[in-house]
Amino acid sequence: VKITSYGVRPIERPYFDKLNKYGFEMTYVEDLLTHDNAEASKGADAVLVRGNCLADRQNLEKFASWGIKYVFTRSVGFNHMDLQAAADLGIEMARVPGYSPYAVAELAFTLGMNLFRHVNLGISQTRQADFTISPAMFSKEIHTATVGIVGIGRIGYTEAKLYKALGAKVVAYDPYPSDAAKELAEMMDLPDLLKQSDIVSVHVPYFPGKNEDLIDDQFVSQMKQGAVLINTARGELANIPAILKGLADGHLDGYGADVVVDEVNILGKQFASVDDIPNQQVRDLVRANPRVLITPHVGSYTEPALQDMISISYDNFHDILTTGTTKNAIHAK
Ligand code: COI
Repeated sequence: VKITSYGVRPIERPYFDKLNKYGFEMTYVEDLLTHDNAEASKGADAVLVRGNCLADRQNLEKFASWGIKYVFTRSVGFNHMDLQAAADLGIEMARVPGYSPYAVAELAFTLGMNLFRHVNLGISQTRQADFTISPAMFSKEIHTATVGIVGIGRIGYTEAKLYKALGAKVVAYDPYPSDAAKELAEMMDLPDLLKQSDIVSVHVPYFPGKNEDLIDDQFVSQMKQGAVLINTARGELANIPAILKGLADGHLDGYGADVVVDEVNILGKQFASVDDIPNQQVRDLVRANPRVLITPHVGSYTEPALQDMISISYDNFHDILTTGTTKNAIHAK
C-alpha cells in the first residue's frame, strides 16, 4: 500500500520509518500540501496530511481522479479538511483525535507563565543593556492566581493539572466537561471565568464558519484588567484588532499564541523582515512584542506527540484497509 505524506520535516523521517510496522510504501514530501504539489500523490493509494495542508475540493478532486480513496490528517484539528467535498467524491477522511496532550499543554503553560511573570519584558530590556525595573514587571505569584481554561478536553485538562500543581485556583468553561475535569476545576460560565481569571487559556476546536473570532471585543473586555490570554488552538479563534485593543486599554497585560491567522501563507517561511509578513494583522501582532509572544505552531512538535501522530495515523490506515472503517473517521455533518 502506497501512502504519500505531506509536511514531513527531515527530523520526522526516522520516526515514520521506525513506526511503520505495517510496511506501507511511503513517499515523503517536505512541504505542506498546496495546489502545486498534489501530483506527488499520483500513483499512491492514500494521502496523509497535517494542519495547514490544503485538503480542499480542488486537491481532493485530483486525488479522486487518480483513484485515491483515503485522505487522512495526523493532526487533532481538521478545519483544513473539506469533509463535504470528500463525501461528494467518495473519499474517506480520518484524524488523530489525541496525541500526547502534554505537548500543547506545556507550551500554553510556558507562554502563560512567561507573560504572567513578565519574563519576556525583562529579557527584551536587558538585551538593550537596560537593567532598570519598571512597574510593568511587578507580578503576582501563581499560587495566588486564578487560571481559566476555556475548553477542558484532553489538552485543557492537562494544562489545568500543571497549574493546579503550582497551587493556582483553576476554573473552567466547557459545555461537556468530563467527570475528571469537574473534579479538577471549578466549572463556570464563560463570563464568570473571564471576570475572575488572571490567565485565560483557550483550547477549543476551530469550526470554519462557526466560531471564528470567538475571542472578540466582548470576550476581551469581559476579562480582568491586566490578565494574560493564551491561544494555542487556532489563529482564527482570535480577532487580532480585539487583542490589540485589549492590550491598549489594559484588559490584557499579555497575549501568547502558538497560532496565527493565514498560516498557510506564513508557516515554514522566513521573511526578510516583519514588514514582509504577508498579513497586516499578523504584522501588527508581532510588533506588539514584548507583551505579545508568538511561536510558529510548535505545540505538537515534541517527540511523544510526533510518535503518537504517526503511529495512530498508520493504525487508521491499517484499520480502514482491513476492516473498511476506522474509529477515527471524520464525516461531514
Ligand atoms: C493539531 O494537531 O491540530 C495541530 O495543530 C498540529 C499541527 C501538526 C497542525
